[in-house]
Amino acid sequence: MYDCTKNYINGEWVDSIGGSTHDIINPSTEEIIGRVSFGKSEDVDLAVKAAQSAFGQYSQWSVNQRLELLEKIVSAFKARWDEIAAAISSEMGAPAPFSLRAQTGSGLGHLRAAIAALQELKLEESIGKSTVIREPVGVCGLITPWNWPINQIACKVAPALAAGCTMVLKPSEIAPVNATLFAEVLDAAGVPAGVFNLVHGDGPGVGASLSSHEGIDMMSFTGSTRAGVLVARAAADTVKRVTQELGGKSANVILESAPLKEAVTSGAHNLFHNSGQSCNAPSRMLVPESLYGQAVAIAAETAAATRPGHPDDPETDIGPVVSEAQFEKIQGLIEAGIEEGAKVAAGGPGKPEGLETGYFVRPTVFRDVNNSMTIAREEIFGPVLCIIPYSDIDEAVAMANDSEYGLSGYVWGGSTEEAMQVARRLRTGMVHLNGAPTDVMAPFGGYKKSGNGREWGVMGLEDFLEVKAIMGAA
Ligand code: NAI
Ligand code: MG
Repeated sequence: MYDCTKNYINGEWVDSIGGSTHDIINPSTEEIIGRVSFGKSEDVDLAVKAAQSAFGQYSQWSVNQRLELLEKIVSAFKARWDEIAAAISSEMGAPAPFSLRAQTGSGLGHLRAAIAALQELKLEESIGKSTVIREPVGVCGLITPWNWPINQIACKVAPALAAGCTMVLKPSEIAPVNATLFAEVLDAAGVPAGVFNLVHGDGPGVGASLSSHEGIDMMSFTGSTRAGVLVARAAADTVKRVTQELGGKSANVILESAPLKEAVTSGAHNLFHNSGQSCNAPSRMLVPESLYGQAVAIAAETAAATRPGHPDDPETDIGPVVSEAQFEKIQGLIEAGIEEGAKVAAGGPGKPEGLETGYFVRPTVFRDVNNSMTIAREEIFGPVLCIIPYSDIDEAVAMANDSEYGLSGYVWGGSTEEAMQVARRLRTGMVHLNGAPTDVMAPFGGYKKSGNGREWGVMGLEDFLEVKAIMGAA
């Protein structure tokens, strides 16, 4: 059984004052695999106090000292790699190889990216007649979700440490085990007491206390747009910086000139992997009318070949979704799609055959979708792909941009140049051309209700820095 009932504050594992403990559920088996405590504002106060007192010293560490610390964290992280991967599989259902490589690998990726960013970023420059320096923003509150848990923790903690900030992390209450292991990694690497603190708990409790806390200078949040708005509201009175990495409904524009089979297969695969639980998932596939039937058939084949299953089964392509609540939400949206007139081309409601236990969802493709349907507008966060026809490229661009979200976009064309022309017209923070993967050094974040600020690499580091202009020094 995993034990997440203690918080890590000022370099010690301490009992949660909050007192209430909750089950951690394995979504593949519905079995209880551990307990997590929900802290309350007193736990947050202790953690913030520790982070405030550590800030004085840690913020003065030289770049080299911070680089050395990050290198030690890399080694300590590698030493716990398999345990972290196993925890992620157990608590959120990622297939074992996917958890080992993509999920856990992304943690190492962000640690390395923070090192590279700190080496690259100019912390001092001349602007006008003045010297401009960049300093750590202060004490940071970090709130992370369950879908890419170690990715999101690492892409906040690593740059915060690189910047010279101290911090309090509240990880997802649904997937708290990897966060506990990560705190152990930081402890083993010799992160000084108080620099990194972990408080377990839920959003309305610990998350809201952090967001409104006088002692916190910046909130970095990843999760739903709903909760991101609440964080910003709670943060407003204290005028802290708020960065938000929120939901998405990303369009995948397949151009007439694209290699259709490759583009559709890759797009469908990108949506299904991690069981559709990625903020940047290409959930709306936009296809020329003339190729619509073919595209639907290819996507349906891809769905049929995508096997849901247990994380440890070598045949598994995708695991379950994370919780019963998410399962129910996804089922409700599949029903809404059918009621509003979209047609199921693959998958559909209910559980896959033979997987009655566990929160497994059938990889689903909807055809005859129009962009105003609920399934084309709401973030489903499950393996449910919508395919929408377009008559010309202007219509495709208009539909792609007709969303309250603006996280990512995908364009596949016959040439990079052609795809690039469309990419320039998308109101999104990121665009992937012709199947290009994410880039750990490129800024990750969104337009519109997908958030504010950028994570990853140099720009991710900049978000944790404050700017000071010094006149008369140059
Ligand atoms: P959520 O947004 O409630 O949870 C994510 C994190 O926010 C957790 O750590 C949670 O404790 C925290 N949180 C919740 N309410 C908060 C509050 N008032 N103040 C501060 N922190 C708060 O997401 P949930 O309920 O787990 O999933 C619901 C939907 O949200 C999903 O179906 C998906 O559409 C979206 N989502 C999007 C994510 C993304 O990366 N874009 C990640 C997780 C969820
Ligand atoms: Mg929630």
